[in-house]
Amino acid sequence: MTASRSPNRSPAQRRGRAFRAADGRVLRVRPVRGDDVEALKRGFARLTPEQVRQRTFHRMNELSDEAAHRLADIDRATTAAYVVVDDDGEVRGEARLHLAPPGDSAEFALIVDPQMLGIGIGRALMRRLIEEARRRGLRELWGTVLADNALMLDFSHRLGAVRERVPDEAGVVRVRFDLARKLRSLPAPRS
Ligand SMILES: CC(C)(COP(=O)(O)OP(=O)(O)OC[C@H]1O[C@@H](n2cnc3c(N)ncnc32)[C@H](O)[C@@H]1OP(=O)(O)O)[C@@H](O)C(=O)NCCC(=O)NCCS
Repeated sequence: MTASRSPNRSPAQRRGRAFRAADGRVLRVRPVRGDDVEALKRGFARLTPEQVRQRTFHRMNELSDEAAHRLADIDRATTAAYVVVDDDGEVRGEARLHLAPPGDSAEFALIVDPQMLGIGIGRALMRRLIEEARRRGLRELWGTVLADNALMLDFSHRLGAVRERVPDEAGVVRVRFDLARKLRSLPAPRS
């Protein structure tokens, strides 16, 4: 049995936290669950081909059952994953972190429904990831971003990440959140 199928979370933790998006609607950010598979597949189907390339670095037409299960059934020792859901339970954004060796940092990735960009979903997800990374005592959170992905580069810069070159890889850059620092509009480190 996988960790996300047997979470020892309270009902409130499973339901997640409500937040008001910039367009006024109330959404929830919560940990991904094993029963999110179909909603994750529908959410993936709404992405633009360009978003799929930005998120996966590949071209994919659909999220297979197997891939959706991998996204939903996580090993919570090494991974944390969150979704933003609307009133109908549709997944409007998804974000995750994976611990990276030697264990004091993690790689992150996120994606927001193209019909709901610019209303604060990305920020809510990044905020949640940073909070979880700090809870786990991590030092930094970093993401690999295609060098032509201006939107993601601008988004991370606005939230306080620094941009770094990846040696010998011209097509990608790394964005890095230093978790010991206070980040713009994101949770402050615990003192
Ligand atoms: C980058 C992405 C996550 C942003 O999500 P979002 O929900 O639209 O972002 P938010 O609404 O939370 O906005 C957060 C900040 O980014 C800025 N931003 C959002 N969209 C922007 C745009 N089109 N142009 C400029 N700035 C923008 C916002 O203004 C806001 O900053 P501010 O509050 O200082 O003004 C989203 O565009 C996306 O899913 N991109 C594809 C996924 C991807 O590239 N993943 C890469 C692998 S990690």
